[in-house]
Amino acid sequence: MADRKIKILDTTLRDGEQAPGYSMNLYEKLEMASQLERLGVDIIEAGFASASPEDFEAVRSVAEQVKTCTVTSLSRALKADIDKTFDAVRVSMRPRIHIVLATSDLHMRYKLGMSPEEVLERARESVRYAKRLCDDVEFSAEDATRSDRDFLEKVLETVIEEGANTVSIPDTVGYRMPQEMAELVTFVKEHVKGIEKACISVHCHDDLGFATANTLAGIRAGAGQAECTINGIGERAGNASLEEVTMGLYVRPDYYHAYCPVNLKQIYRTSKLLTTITGVAVPPNKSIVGANAFAHEAGIHQHGILANRATYEIMSPEVIGVPQNRMVLGKHSGKHAFADRLSILGYELSEAQLEKAFASFKQIADRKKTVTDRDLEALIGNQHTHFEPTYLLKSFVVNSGTVISATAAVKLIRDDEVYETVSTGDGPIDAAFKAIEMTARSGAVLDNYTINSVTEGEDALGEVIVKLKAGGTTVTGRGLSTDIIEASIKAYLNGVNKIVAPTKS
Ligand code: KIV
Ligand code: ZN
Repeated sequence: MADRKIKILDTTLRDGEQAPGYSMNLYEKLEMASQLERLGVDIIEAGFASASPEDFEAVRSVAEQVKTCTVTSLSRALKADIDKTFDAVRVSMRPRIHIVLATSDLHMRYKLGMSPEEVLERARESVRYAKRLCDDVEFSAEDATRSDRDFLEKVLETVIEEGANTVSIPDTVGYRMPQEMAELVTFVKEHVKGIEKACISVHCHDDLGFATANTLAGIRAGAGQAECTINGIGERAGNASLEEVTMGLYVRPDYYHAYCPVNLKQIYRTSKLLTTITGVAVPPNKSIVGANAFAHEAGIHQHGILANRATYEIMSPEVIGVPQNRMVLGKHSGKHAFADRLSILGYELSEAQLEKAFASFKQIADRKKTVTDRDLEALIGNQHTHFEPTYLLKSFVVNSGTVISATAAVKLIRDDEVYETVSTGDGPIDAAFKAIEMTARSGAVLDNYTINSVTEGEDALGEVIVKLKAGGTTVTGRGLSTDIIEASIKAYLNGVNKIVAPTKS
């Protein structure tokens, strides 16, 4: 029998984004959506349109921008919410309404305050209503894995009768074990009347660390859609990670007899984009995309790898597009060679973006002996801005040591005028941030600061990510330089520019 095609519904922008620390602004969501489209997911869940006007706008903008994926938004089983949801996704080439209604006794009684009969009726009415607006409707029975099976069967039968194209059985609280998840999918396949007309979806949370295993077990038992997020982000412990699910299918077709046609080469870049946008790094030992996922440290392993990579590698880093750490460009490389290399890496930049990226490359190449693909990835990752910065860095001087107070003098340019401020601080970085604030008066409060080395070696690029809080919002600032104080200043200034930008991008 031919392998089954599995659809991937990516919910990074909904389940992922609603988790603390992962909020994204409109432009960041659009950037992420573009990358998900490049990755080739089937469905992008762009948000929860009826949650707020900002959420509505984000879903609508993603629906407008994305051309090749279905775009959906979650909706409560209420007519007003369904109307809002459809309003947000209707501009999409392929809109979908995703209705959620809880079916477990616990949720029905304590969360919804509804009887099972009322829930059944609401499920029927809401899918019937949504179908009048949109051809493609998904119904999720929230907390399905803790629901009474007979009741779940009735609800799924009812929504399929009303035309639901996809029925999802979420393991909302990450409670089930893989064998149980497989049994539940089998039960649904064998007992729900009309199930052949709908696609079974699985949506698993990672509270006990089984989200990926449960998703794959559901697929093996017959589910045709997997709901995942990049880096496994999501409520509490997160969702099934897209990179783990897709690579599980890729590495073990002999076991799953299924495939999903995502562009695996974009996995690493998508993961990296999410970490640069949110400022939340993945742990080094994270499967597939962690920094150590393809590192071989033990001598005996290195020996085996040199003799034959298959001894310790079940997949190669190239498959997911991990950039290689070998010299590709230097300070004499011209714009042509630079553009060529970016195109080999899969980047399509406009002339203006290329010009800007090339200027940054030149600065880096002047200071760094070799510029690798990893440096280029970081450089492009730091180019993403959708507005003209209010303040530009002209220069800075810092003084610090064990016997003097750290002092920073920072010159910024705004509308061709130079502003110079001097501040002391608790270390040179703090002093520089305070000096910037004296000019910009953005009200930013530093919430988080991380620094990572992009490559190894003395002249490695440092990438700084800061999170700044101001007026109830949090923005992420990024900076890249071989000098970590300069990278820090650029990151802080990038964040400040987002705060003071008229559109709050
Ligand atoms: O985990 C869950 O049950 C969900 C639903 C809202 C689909 O995210
Ligand atoms: Zn969820």
